[in-house]
Amino acid sequence: MSMSFDRHRRLRNSAGMRNLVRETQLQASDFIYPLFIVEGEGKKQEIPSMPGVYHYSLDQLQEEIEEVVSLGIQSVIVFGVPDHKDEIGTQAYHECGIVQQGIRKIKEWAPGLVVIADTCLCQYTDHGHCGVIKDGVVDNDPSLELLVKTAISQAQAGADIIAPSNMMDGFVAAIRAGLDESGFAHIPIMSYAVKYASSFYGPFRDAAHSTPQFGDRKTYQMDPANMREALREAASDVNEGADFLMVKPAMAYMDIIRLVRDQFDLPVVAYNVSGEYSMIKAAAANGWLDEKSVALELLVGFKRAGADLILTYFAKDAVRWLNEK
Ligand code: PBG
Repeated sequence: MSMSFDRHRRLRNSAGMRNLVRETQLQASDFIYPLFIVEGEGKKQEIPSMPGVYHYSLDQLQEEIEEVVSLGIQSVIVFGVPDHKDEIGTQAYHECGIVQQGIRKIKEWAPGLVVIADTCLCQYTDHGHCGVIKDGVVDNDPSLELLVKTAISQAQAGADIIAPSNMMDGFVAAIRAGLDESGFAHIPIMSYAVKYASSFYGPFRDAAHSTPQFGDRKTYQMDPANMREALREAASDVNEGADFLMVKPAMAYMDIIRLVRDQFDLPVVAYNVSGEYSMIKAAAANGWLDEKSVALELLVGFKRAGADLILTYFAKDAVRWLNEK
């Protein structure tokens, strides 16, 4: 019988063979691990909608940081959950704000760990929007001034990277200018360049107490139906001086990760958001999915789609799973 066809299975014959031809590898340095820091003392409280993720007060945080470092994870992103909120998010840019204190501590405990500060106002404003409100709408340009103050105070506290997530127009230009004028020309900006108005942020908003008190974020975050708009958003941020481009969320936006990877030369970060984490946790808790293999499949998918870095609540578990292999 002489038939001609391709024998693809030759390269899948054994685990060793599969290891040889694997195109995409995950490693500890791919991951950025998110931390939620709260005020007060003695607090290590699990976030109900995000099993395995905790609110830490500063006195409880050191052990967590040491664990992250010992796993070989290179970077964390810090989110502050302040006790006091007001109309203009004062605690976001206060010298002794919870994030500023947290950054100082983390840099003291782990000087080599790359600390990223999320630069936004929604956890700090009583209305829960990412900017200041005028006549019921989020007012772009006055919000920029507060974001610049926030970024500078985070850099002063020792942040290695500023990550603005607020989706105001011009935020990269404003923050770049502000950092440069304040002696922080060497601090990179990781822009949440392409951030969709997603329902997958639900558990994060429980964790960060940042649900908008009226309306939604659709006038500043992007419509999930749009792809060309992602290119316009990313192009603006590149022109304004961004050093990293983030795509958020990740799972429903793999095409956008690939598009941004192909069109721009900057490192691309995929944000594997809270809802994407929680739904796997919930399915696993019910015995419907195998958490480890499903999570690793998704993470390698983000990398294959073009992400250089993955911001994920799975970071610590993923490194442990990879080490088991
Ligand atoms: C702040 C911010 C949000 C997330 C990260 N930074 C929430 C939002 O835009 O409402 C969501 C992250 C997640 O869901 O894991 N603007």
